[in-house]
Amino acid sequence: MTYETILVERKGRTALLTLNRPKALNALNLQVMNEVVEATAALDRDPDIGCIVLTGSPKAFAAGADIKEMRPQGYMDMYLSDWFTAWDRLGELRTPTVAAVSGYALGGGCELAMLCDILLASDTAVFGQPEIKLGVIPGIGGSQRLTRAVGKAKAMELCLTGRTMDATEAERAGLVSRIVPADDLLEEALAVAETVAGMSAPVAMMAKEAVNRAFETTLAEGVRFERRLFHAVFAVADQKEGMSAFVEKRPPEFTHR
Ligand code: CAA
Repeated sequence: MTYETILVERKGRTALLTLNRPKALNALNLQVMNEVVEATAALDRDPDIGCIVLTGSPKAFAAGADIKEMRPQGYMDMYLSDWFTAWDRLGELRTPTVAAVSGYALGGGCELAMLCDILLASDTAVFGQPEIKLGVIPGIGGSQRLTRAVGKAKAMELCLTGRTMDATEAERAGLVSRIVPADDLLEEALAVAETVAGMSAPVAMMAKEAVNRAFETTLAEGVRFERRLFHAVFAVADQKEGMSAFVEKRPPEFTHR
């Protein structure tokens, strides 16, 4: 499959997906959405891929949904085409995902980063939900995921004023897992992805499922869900391999079964 707005490369068990609309600072038009959703779905089905890295350019991870494309739309256009709903599929991928963010991650760009499982930022990253300045609100989950990530006070301020956060503030607020020097970002993101992809794939899927459940349920239900998955991993051959490797003082050789 060839794409026009993204690049997809494979590096061992890791896939690297690069947004590639430099003239528009990787603004997320419908073509980008469809290509990202299709490419990630195909990678998700591929047993040889254990982690997907999403990145942009040094200047912009993505400067938001495409304002020029949205400007003429009316309510019925948005409603009948279910504008942006396809992005939800990114949050439903079973394969772990890493967002490697340099430069602008604004509006839909911030929302895309938050749809990923691990969010690494370079020291040049700028996050925000500035939709209000355009007379709209976030539409790819920003008001929900940002609030869960950084709490009501900061999310409310960012969504109501359009103020942006630099990488330091984003890390302090809990939006990103780590800040990496811009020149090292991709290498670091790929290293993280390689580590994740080296784990047992079904167990990594279950770990991801368990963490994500924390955002969907009560503590007691979440702990019960985790306990069931914990019991289930004892049906995975990689559990025997991982524990045997520890006891035998050797690196594990997971078969992803
Ligand atoms: N949509 C469409 N085009 C965009 C864009 C966007 N979100 N962001 C940037 N571009 C285009 C610009 O129009 C410009 O194109 P032209 O050369 O054809 O004019 C090109 O990218 C370069 O942009 P700038 O000249 O503006 O670059 P800059 O360095 O001066 O500024 C910026 C960078 C501060 C990020 C600025 O581009 C900007 O503010 N962009 C819009 C950010 C924004 O509001 N994002 C939210 C969009 S709405 C949304 O995302 C809804 C949602 O929840 C899903």
